[in-house]
Amino acid sequence: MLNVILAGATGWAGSELARGIAGSADLRLVAAVSRSQAGRRLGEVLQEPRLSAMVHGSAVEALAQPCDVFVEYTRPESAKGNILAALAAGAHVVVGTSGLTEGDFAEIDALARARKRGVLACGNFALTVVLLQKFAEMAARWIPQWEILDYAHDDKADAPSGTARELALRLGRVRAPERTVPLDKTVGPVEARGATLAGTQVHSIRLPGYVIGAEVVFGLADQRLSLRHDAGTSARPYVDGALLAIRRVSTLVGVQRGLDAVLELEPRVAGSERP
Ligand SMILES: NC(=O)c1ccc[n+]([C@@H]2O[C@H](COP(=O)([O-])OP(=O)(O)OC[C@H]3O[C@@H](n4cnc5c(N)ncnc54)[C@H](OP(=O)(O)O)[C@@H]3O)[C@@H](O)[C@H]2O)c1
Repeated sequence: MLNVILAGATGWAGSELARGIAGSADLRLVAAVSRSQAGRRLGEVLQEPRLSAMVHGSAVEALAQPCDVFVEYTRPESAKGNILAALAAGAHVVVGTSGLTEGDFAEIDALARARKRGVLACGNFALTVVLLQKFAEMAARWIPQWEILDYAHDDKADAPSGTARELALRLGRVRAPERTVPLDKTVGPVEARGATLAGTQVHSIRLPGYVIGAEVVFGLADQRLSLRHDAGTSARPYVDGALLAIRRVSTLVGVQRGLDAVLELEPRVAGSERP
């Protein structure tokens, strides 16, 4: 049985995950974090009687309960402080919150290694995103030019999304993308070419009518490959991946990015067992 603290348990993504934890026989939610619902039982807030954990107003208060894994699902402004507090308290950490910078992750990694704890950070827990990342890495080995389109609802404040950032970083590790026209030779406003992230041009679209999506477009002479993930309107796609991360994060030391750090994704020969 793993004891879990969930920060952001009353939010759009966190509340769905809390219900997922309630339905998992091997996980026990021992405390939750939400400023507006502090002092109440989470089960009462979410109308899920299996969740008897108390809601606390801060991560530090919640961490008075011993836990194995702390899940960070709040907002970018509070995420780093919560993660550092959880590591200092001896917990492994799963990070779902997007918007942390590379500098933030470097600081978190240093503390996690000093404490010999794992931090698994996934900008997107959906299986279709994990596969998009893998397929895109394969494509980048063969196709030297690509750009990323990052789609989200109009009121998403952070840009590019965690999903797009993670994708750009991963592709940058495969190789630096080529550009036929260098950015400084752009005729017109250079912003029209998007933001440069780990060498990749990323274009963030924020409009009503979108939920969350990411697309990588690879271009070769007279041919094009698009790899695209689109999520629907519920937070359901993120639950199974987050539960897997909670179960496996203790196998890691330091910061790992992406669910594939704990997922077997290589194809198996026909007739072998499914992962
Ligand atoms: N990795 C993934 O697969 C994935 C999927 C979906 C979303 N996300 C990311 O997860 C984050 C949360 O998204 P969301 O849509 O669930 O947001 P949300 O609905 O606004 O929920 C945020 C939650 O965090 C709590 N919170 C906010 N600020 C806090 C603070 N300073 N201290 C303590 N608790 C705080 C909120 O409760 P109170 O306001 O009551 O404090 C609420 O429970 C975002 O960064 C989003 O981009 C990631």
